[in-house]
Amino acid sequence: MQFRKYSFKLNNQSIAVEAPPAYTLLEVLRNVLNLTGTKDGCSEGECGACTVIMNGKAVNSCLTIMEQVEGADVITIEGLAKDYEGDALLRAFIEEGAVQCGYCTPGLMMSSKALLATNPKPSADEIKKALRGNICRCTGYAMILKAVLRAGS
Ligand code: FES
Ligand code: FES
Repeated sequence: MQFRKYSFKLNNQSIAVEAPPAYTLLEVLRNVLNLTGTKDGCSEGECGACTVIMNGKAVNSCLTIMEQVEGADVITIEGLAKDYEGDALLRAFIEEGAVQCGYCTPGLMMSSKALLATNPKPSADEIKKALRGNICRCTGYAMILKAVLRAGS
């Protein structure tokens, strides 16, 4: 198999990885870099479990091929987790009980983080709209909504 080298910024550090050209960002994160915080739920853009922030926007990493990642700025849940003490969103998810099995949580947090970066005090409707691509099978969404509202207050 032929490999290609990709250079990009990951969690504020410049990195270079080698991967087959057909690899997605999700495959590189999980299979090459062993960053398993980003989850693989459906591999086809339906569940949002694989959401990361790329160039300031929430994207499905399962649909993002490495060609698109060259030179980009990518933040994953591991980047967010580094700043647990100071991160209002992470604390709000825990304090509001917005996490059950946790499979959806990294993706929900990345979508929420991207929203809060451009809209620091979103309304409930704005949050629902921003998170509509993220499926959660456990919580019923009410605690997630409360957590993002709290983080934005
Ligand atoms: S794994 Fe990417 S949207 Fe489901
Ligand atoms: S907490 Fe289990 S899928 Fe959301």
